[in-house]
Amino acid sequence: MTNILHVDGVDPLETGTVAYSIDNGIAWVSFNRPDKRNCMSPRLNRQMMRVLDELEFRDDVGVLVLSGEGTAWSAGMDLKEYFRETEAQGLQGTRAAQRESYGWWRRLRWYQKPTIAMVNGWCFGGGYGPLFACDLAFAAEEAQFGLSEINWGILPGGGAAKVAVELTGFRNAMYHALMGENIDGKTAAQWGFVNEALPLDQLKARVTDVANVLLKKNPVALKATKDAIRRVREMSYDNAEDYLIRAQEAANSFDNEGRKEGIKQFIDDKSYKPGLGAYDKSKQGA
Ligand code: COA
Repeated sequence: MTNILHVDGVDPLETGTVAYSIDNGIAWVSFNRPDKRNCMSPRLNRQMMRVLDELEFRDDVGVLVLSGEGTAWSAGMDLKEYFRETEAQGLQGTRAAQRESYGWWRRLRWYQKPTIAMVNGWCFGGGYGPLFACDLAFAAEEAQFGLSEINWGILPGGGAAKVAVELTGFRNAMYHALMGENIDGKTAAQWGFVNEALPLDQLKARVTDVANVLLKKNPVALKATKDAIRRVREMSYDNAEDYLIRAQEAANSFDNEGRKEGIKQFIDDKSYKPGLGAYDKSKQGA
């Protein structure tokens, strides 16, 4: 069942911009402005932060999937409500709108649970922020990705230029940003924007399978691992080596038994092989 997170004193027009449901450990969150191709307005940005807050530490949520209602994943920033109407309020309005959008993308980048972008359709400009914020990404082959900013006269801001060079090669990123041509899901996979592209009618099943694999893993190790992969990107080898030692030792203070159980089930019990799958978490502490 799809839910809207109602908040006392907040206009239903705002709370309705994001929908979610929780099913067997997976939180399915969706941009919910299909009539506006799920472009991100200040209202949507505020509501998305509330929904992320609501779901992050719940015991019944192990993985979060971000998708879009209707034909779009997200058509980027709302040119009317995010740009024109906030600019009309002066610099203060612009900065407030930036804080709200960049804020939930940053929150998502460092989310407690693993996150998956399920890109069902259009993904433009500002949409690259949440795309990169998600740990994994799967797209419909039919989806269209574009840095459309050049087509309406600005540079790919809001982190979009950075996301492009982080995810793909220099020549691809430059062509994409300068030409304003879209690529489909298959090309997005070849370029590294997403892990895989599949026909739209197979997308949800594949994402569910991936989420179910993640749900079997040790949650402390998942959080430590996803943060490590993001952090070491910008470190020298020696700094990364040091960071990883300390990150593992910090993770041990949250869960020192999981890895011992993982070793025991392999070496002593011979009940699984780490090279072929995860240990049985349910036996931990038994
Ligand atoms: N900002 C504001 N409104 C947007 C929007 C955006 N980024 N994207 C779509 N909309 C609105 C349209 O204005 C239209 O509103 P209306 O029904 O009140 O006229 C509605 O959403 C449907 O859009 P439409 O263009 O008719 O849908 P489409 O399916 O034919 O085309 C797109 C989809 C995504 C190709 C097209 O809407 C588009 O180019 N959007 C802008 C993409 C963009 O450049 N985003 C900015 C990145 S920062």
